[in-house]
Amino acid sequence: MAEPKTNELMEKIVSLCKRRGFIFQSSEIYGGINGFWDYGPLGAELKKNIRDRWWDDMVRRRDDVVGLESSIIMHPKVWEASGHVGGFTDPMVDCKASKQRFRADQIFFAAVVVDGQTAGYVSALESERIAEELQEKAETFKRKKAIQGKLEPVHAREFTEAKPEEIPLIPSPATGEPGSLTPPRGFNMMLETNVGALRDESSVAYLRPETAQGMFVDFKAIVDTGRVKVPFGIAQIGKSFRNEITPRNFIFRSREFEQMEMEYFISDQDDWQKWHRYWIDWCRDWLLGVGLPANLLSEFDHPKEKLAFYSKGTTDIMFQFPFGVQELWGIAARGDYDLTQHAKFSGASLMYFDEAAKRRYVPHVVEPAVGIDRILLAILCSAYCEDEAPDDKGKLETRVVMKFHPRIAPVKVAVFPLLKNKPELVKKALAVRDLLRPHLTVFYDEAGAIGRRYRRQDEIGTPFGVTVDFDTLGEKPELLDTVTLRDRDTMQQTRVKIADLVPLLLEKIR
Ligand code: GAP
Repeated sequence: MAEPKTNELMEKIVSLCKRRGFIFQSSEIYGGINGFWDYGPLGAELKKNIRDRWWDDMVRRRDDVVGLESSIIMHPKVWEASGHVGGFTDPMVDCKASKQRFRADQIFFAAVVVDGQTAGYVSALESERIAEELQEKAETFKRKKAIQGKLEPVHAREFTEAKPEEIPLIPSPATGEPGSLTPPRGFNMMLETNVGALRDESSVAYLRPETAQGMFVDFKAIVDTGRVKVPFGIAQIGKSFRNEITPRNFIFRSREFEQMEMEYFISDQDDWQKWHRYWIDWCRDWLLGVGLPANLLSEFDHPKEKLAFYSKGTTDIMFQFPFGVQELWGIAARGDYDLTQHAKFSGASLMYFDEAAKRRYVPHVVEPAVGIDRILLAILCSAYCEDEAPDDKGKLETRVVMKFHPRIAPVKVAVFPLLKNKPELVKKALAVRDLLRPHLTVFYDEAGAIGRRYRRQDEIGTPFGVTVDFDTLGEKPELLDTVTLRDRDTMQQTRVKIADLVPLLLEKIR
């Protein structure tokens, strides 16, 4: 059976990322390490553009949000207070036959019911077409066992909902055979290390699983500096670490990733729903601003009964990835839980004194939290396009083009001399490169036929190409000191003056 189209698209994206230097498997020459990724030259640029834009929009262009860079390793009590040591677990299931581990909430199963009788069970890992897959497996099961009668439509359930007596009858997704899956048990995702010369219980510390706690722990220090007044936010960008049971879908779920989080502190008497909605809309607009199409974004409100006891409401902005609609950005109303917990565990007062109202209280928090890697993946998935363009001999060929928004494209403009063996063209093209370089990320390329050079830039999403040709040198006197400016998406070329290039490109990129 042919692979579903969605997997083909992911394979193409992963392969392009490796081929063109966006993302590599970490430690690849040693066989790789699961859940860790390296960003190559273009990936590092793309990531930096996302990070810089978020910081500009979230911190620099606002009066009510300040930045923070807290340490990755914090006092271990921070994670007791936050609830991570006790409760940052995912339900894990082992397959004793294959020695594979699964997250219980990613295994789905269904009873095979024929003429009202349960004849057995089928299972599958979470996917876009889980119901169809289980139905197909139930039909195959009935046929192979030569069971007569009418098969009822399957009803998919999460493995976490399996009754103890059902567990031995559910086939392992690894082997297809029942009897090897263990009941789910909590698996703590905190990555531990030891700090100091001794390696014992007292030296245990954790790599942070989120950047958020830095903002709560430093709340008092920031308020004491006197720059901020409720409502205000503290924002941070930085690495987080989680020992995910099943890292997967490329960089979607990794064990080391980078978060951009902001804790927005509001009065305990303020309307949290108003601020929650405000930040959901802000995040959505921000995603549109980096080029994600509106039709691939949606919202998911966490059901009240599944929220943590302190949470007033959580809404996720979802993105339609090739492997399904998944969480991109979570916006949570966390009440006063975090500050209250840290006050309790540290003994410090984390009350805020409202000068105007002459009132002391613990502020409440609305938190937009997102992973850069996940935004980057969403950008890669929505930017990937294939169309047709003529090659140097005029024959139509498939063109791969990454339609990055010019704002976040890793390279903004490529500069080409028409021919590399004409020193006058090369000299002029290098001068154009040097003119643009202080303002934009520029790539100079003189190798190969011009059509191939355009293709190479299309594949890495460079929105503009500047070509220096004989007219630039004055072959047609009226075109002296002009170049062709090529648009990646339309492939149209216009003639522009070199002197106009910088303002023109800056305008287009903005
Ligand atoms: N402080 C709240 C918090 O960390 P979360 O939903 O666990 O909430 C926030 O994480 C965001 O971080 C997610 O929406 C996602 O974008 C990103 N994220 C979480 N776990 C991740 C992982 N293992 N790999 C990549 N990104 C992850």
